[in-house]
Amino acid sequence: MRILVTGGAGFIGSTLLNTLVPRHPEHQFLNVDVLTYAANPANLAVIEGRENYEFEQVDITDEAGVRSVFDKWRPNCVIHLAAESHVDRSIHGPRAFMLTNILGTFNLLEAARATWTEGEGLFHHVSTDEVYGSLADGEFFSEDSPYDPSSPYSASKASSDHLVRSHGRTYNMPIRISNCSNNYGPMQFPEKLIPLMIGNLLKRRPLPVYGRGLNVRDWLHVSDHCEAIWAIVQHGTNGESYNVGGNCPMRNIDVVYTLCALVAEATGTDEDELRSLVCFVEDRPGHDLRYAVDASKIAQELGVVPSRDFSDGLRSTVQWYLQNQEWVQAVTDGSYRDWIEQNYSSRATATISKDTSKNGPTP
Ligand code: NAD
Ligand code: TYD
Repeated sequence: MRILVTGGAGFIGSTLLNTLVPRHPEHQFLNVDVLTYAANPANLAVIEGRENYEFEQVDITDEAGVRSVFDKWRPNCVIHLAAESHVDRSIHGPRAFMLTNILGTFNLLEAARATWTEGEGLFHHVSTDEVYGSLADGEFFSEDSPYDPSSPYSASKASSDHLVRSHGRTYNMPIRISNCSNNYGPMQFPEKLIPLMIGNLLKRRPLPVYGRGLNVRDWLHVSDHCEAIWAIVQHGTNGESYNVGGNCPMRNIDVVYTLCALVAEATGTDEDELRSLVCFVEDRPGHDLRYAVDASKIAQELGVVPSRDFSDGLRSTVQWYLQNQEWVQAVTDGSYRDWIEQNYSSRATATISKDTSKNGPTP
């Protein structure tokens, strides 16, 4: 296959490419990424220079740029991950989310439609469980749950899911969609809950928990998400969507206290001292109370189940951040952008935070 991966320099995309490129020399991979603040080419160092891996800096909101990549590279499979992905940023600046997540997805679908004859190719769209909105206690999202997004991020992802599905139905394009729960693991940008808390714990900074920390999220290790994506690409059914989850719904406050325990254990620090860093801050507007994924369809149809339980996955993630302080330092002081600025242009350079460990409205 000639597989075009969008957003391959981000958290999940880089994990996917680092897994698939060495494992599948029979397939050719092209990473299309514009390199926003969320991209870190250092995450791809292990596959740089491999014969079956190429990179193109392209903005998926640029219709002509996307078309020219398809014309030149002629992919027969697209795995679409490129997106603006952080809910807090979407609240303070929703426009980029509409452009990348909706228009960008549309541009890719149209380029695929122009490149492939009817029924040819495969467009796999990587989406989120957040499109379904909030659940009551005891409920789970199934693939048939109604869409009910609450944030500009989840509304833009819901829109992109609709576009993908409609291209499948209208133009007979082979499409598949995965809706996954919250991911965690190495190399995640420290604006998201788990790496933010680990970084703040190591620096003894306050741990900002929104509201009372009672919101529930289902957590899945990023490597399990990537295996699920690959299983869907290989063995899934066209036109279908698959929920992917960790069978591990947890309250945020419990996740944060677990991190306090793990960091205390790993660094020989007093756990109570770390727990005292928790501070309850103003809640996120439109904050969904509960997400929980029923992942039985992908388990039954494709045999995909998470390989790591949350406590082991979290322990190894804490270890990774402890052992990769240079990575953490480069991301928090902004120097991870130096290489990009020297080698590429970046439309997002101006928005880079010099201190990503501080949570706040302006990135
Ligand atoms: P990320 O923010 O870490 O990475 C996104 C990547 O997309 C970056 O490399 C960025 O440079 C690129 N990108 C952004 N705008 C672009 C544009 N206009 N043109 C080209 N590239 C662009 O995101 P992630 O956490 O790796 O998420 C990847 C995908 O998975 C997203 O579609 C997200 O909605 C979905 N998802 C994420 C999670 C999660 O917990 N992180 C859960 C479920 C689904
Ligand atoms: P996040 O990692 O931003 O993912 P998402 O919003 O896509 O679920 O947040 C996970 C949960 O943690 C969410 O309920 C919001 C909460 N949260 C905090 O309490 N404090 C924080 O500083 C952050 C970033 C998130």
